Amino acid sequence: MQKNYFDHNATTALDKKVLGVMMPYIEMQQGNPTSQHSFGRHARTAIEEAREQVALAIHAHPSEVIFTSGGTEANNMIVHGAAIKERESTLVRSNIEHPCIARPMEAMKHQGWKQALLNVSQDGVVTKEAYKNITAENVSLVSVMLANNETGAIQDMALLHDFAKEKKALSHTDAVQAFGKVDVRFDELHIDAMTLSSHKIYGPQGVGALILNKRSDIEPLIYGGGQEKNLRSGTENIAAIVGFGKACELISESVKTTSTHTHELQKILEVHLKDLGAVIFSEKVARLNNTTFFAFKDIEGSTLLTALDKKGFAIASGSACSSVNKEPSHVLLAMGIDEDLARGALRISFGQRNSVTEVKDFIETLKKELQTLKQLTAIAA
Ligand SMILES: Cc1ncc(COP(=O)(O)O)c(C=O)c1O
Repeated sequence: MQKNYFDHNATTALDKKVLGVMMPYIEMQQGNPTSQHSFGRHARTAIEEAREQVALAIHAHPSEVIFTSGGTEANNMIVHGAAIKERESTLVRSNIEHPCIARPMEAMKHQGWKQALLNVSQDGVVTKEAYKNITAENVSLVSVMLANNETGAIQDMALLHDFAKEKKALSHTDAVQAFGKVDVRFDELHIDAMTLSSHKIYGPQGVGALILNKRSDIEPLIYGGGQEKNLRSGTENIAAIVGFGKACELISESVKTTSTHTHELQKILEVHLKDLGAVIFSEKVARLNNTTFFAFKDIEGSTLLTALDKKGFAIASGSACSSVNKEPSHVLLAMGIDEDLARGALRISFGQRNSVTEVKDFIETLKKELQTLKQLTAIAA
């Protein structure tokens, strides 16, 4: 059966050009980048070239790029690293952050730090009022994601910057979902730290970066041999880093065309979804051009997801990491969405290879599946 992949916010397929540059670092004798012989120097050069590619793609300086095992580690690194610098401080985050920001902050709370939450509006954005409601004085870190993985809602980074400046705190944004879908310029965001992940931009899984400006000083999360400016010890995954560098180069060349393409698909999809009676979350605010988070009243999301999967359409319910969790999306609950409607939430996230034909096929299949489910509900009632 034809398989249509509409879950690019969860992960993307490795670009063939990325695989091409990675292969020599998988097949050949590797050097340890810390070794002084030619094998080691070759590995070191490959890593430094990748660092330049990442920096170029987001308009940062190569010295600001710290390679990690992915977005999760980079987020843990900034939370832990900023907190340890200032004991008894307050960590501030929005109430729609990914668990890899929320959970480390909660863990720090158990160890004596304080946490303050920025509540989002009904549309899923952090407003100026939300920042004003934070009364804590000794704030060490404030973290607000650039784009939400579920709704795609884009946050105002100027508000984050102003608040952090006022509190003399480190500012951080999780740009894992925004990078590759909108133009992300670290130099223009005026914030201290930013998280990236490779597998959301057609690069390999298991690699990412924390971008940390030169003025910021944090404690390491992983201690050891002192790699990555002493902030992330451990022998580097050279093939993955090289692949991530290439993926960054390719995505900065294609971000505009990809985003125009996915926007076309998104528009077609949403017109039909609304005709069928769907509620689209964060519809009224600036959103990623590839992401549609929606629900049908009285239709259980996971039932519809399974039915569509059987027909060859891969979509998500809420965030990838919580799809095993039957609880309604924490993002929708934070937005004040009714629990029953939230349980129906499904996410479609388009990517480079999706086509108009696929979207039209999807609509037709969706219509049929909705009809079947409604009939079943009527019989059961
Ligand atoms: C917003 C956001 N942050 C962080 C992550 C984690 O990134 P990684 O999978 O590279 O650990 C994800 C992954 O879904 C995400 O959507």
